[in-house]
Amino acid sequence: MRVRLALAAQLALMLALAGPASGAPPDGHRVALGAEMSTFGAEAGSFTDPGSRRLFREHFDSLSPGNELKWEYVEPEPGEFDFSHADRMLDFAERHGAEFRGPALIWHWQMPRWVWSRDSGLAQYGVNETGRPSWTPQALTRTMRRHIREVVGHYRGRIRTWDVVNEAVGDNGALRDNWLFPQVVGPAYIAKAFRIAHRADPEARLAYNDYGIEVQNPKSDGVYRLLRDLIARGVSVDQLGIQGHMDINAAVPAVGDLVANMTRFAELGLEIEITELDVALPQGAPMSAELLAHQAAIYGALAEACQQVEACRTLTVWGVSDNHTWLADTNPLPFDSGYQPKPAWDALMTALR
Ligand code: XIL
Repeated sequence: MRVRLALAAQLALMLALAGPASGAPPDGHRVALGAEMSTFGAEAGSFTDPGSRRLFREHFDSLSPGNELKWEYVEPEPGEFDFSHADRMLDFAERHGAEFRGPALIWHWQMPRWVWSRDSGLAQYGVNETGRPSWTPQALTRTMRRHIREVVGHYRGRIRTWDVVNEAVGDNGALRDNWLFPQVVGPAYIAKAFRIAHRADPEARLAYNDYGIEVQNPKSDGVYRLLRDLIARGVSVDQLGIQGHMDINAAVPAVGDLVANMTRFAELGLEIEITELDVALPQGAPMSAELLAHQAAIYGALAEACQQVEACRTLTVWGVSDNHTWLADTNPLPFDSGYQPKPAWDALMTALR
């Protein structure tokens, strides 16, 4: 008994001397910092705003176009592609040596009318009054294939990471089935989208991206099952995107819970990115020291978790400064409207060492 204990103690000592446990990052794990900018949406103007550009150049390694690669902007008419807006942003990123992330190829928002309106009166969620979509599975699959091929193909070799499928899982962990693609093509639309994207650029990293999956809960469990099964079937999914639109009214998530959740995905062989971090204050609320501190603590927890998990390679904030955000009037970002760093920025800098 004694001998065994001694052996165990020795083993523990050896492991401790050997460095961090597997999955923990080696010294020098550097998390890249990304930011979203856009010419469209409520945050329109952020991309051309000199103050935001200056901050981007000074502090960020990766750019996410907020809208420019969404289907409604990039293929506004069937087979007619408009890459001009995304091209401009990609040129800017490349000029400054920044990476570029592509959101989002298949999503239930920001689809052009022509995709929905094959069924007259088709609502955003893709069901017409009769409840029967008029696309055939074959036609919609062909349309999806052309879309993904053209968009990913256009940027082959230049865009390293694509959000291939965005927000396919519901809060209960089951696949969202109340919109066009699952209804017409069936759940196989997800694997198909990844396979098409992989063929269009075999070098690109392909991500599944979603919100509300920062810690273990029924939704992240559902995403876990989905990705595990896709990987088991040989579908090339390389990355989990954790959006990180965080709730200021909720408690600060425990770093250990965030790390545990990221780790189980990393153990599937996936890279992790935090892709859309922002923490909206209650609309119109003055930025009290208390609210700012709570906001900073949430930023800090996510950044600390990413820092602790070797597979977590980039943390992207969904905007740069509070004067350009998709969440108007909520001051959700790390720089204020006067481009000054907020406590949230300090928390990011402290955690990302
Ligand atoms: C948002 C854009 O920032 C807005 O301009 C647009 O009106 C709606 O989409 N989750 C996502 C992002 O995956 O693509 C969304 O971006 C924010 C929520």
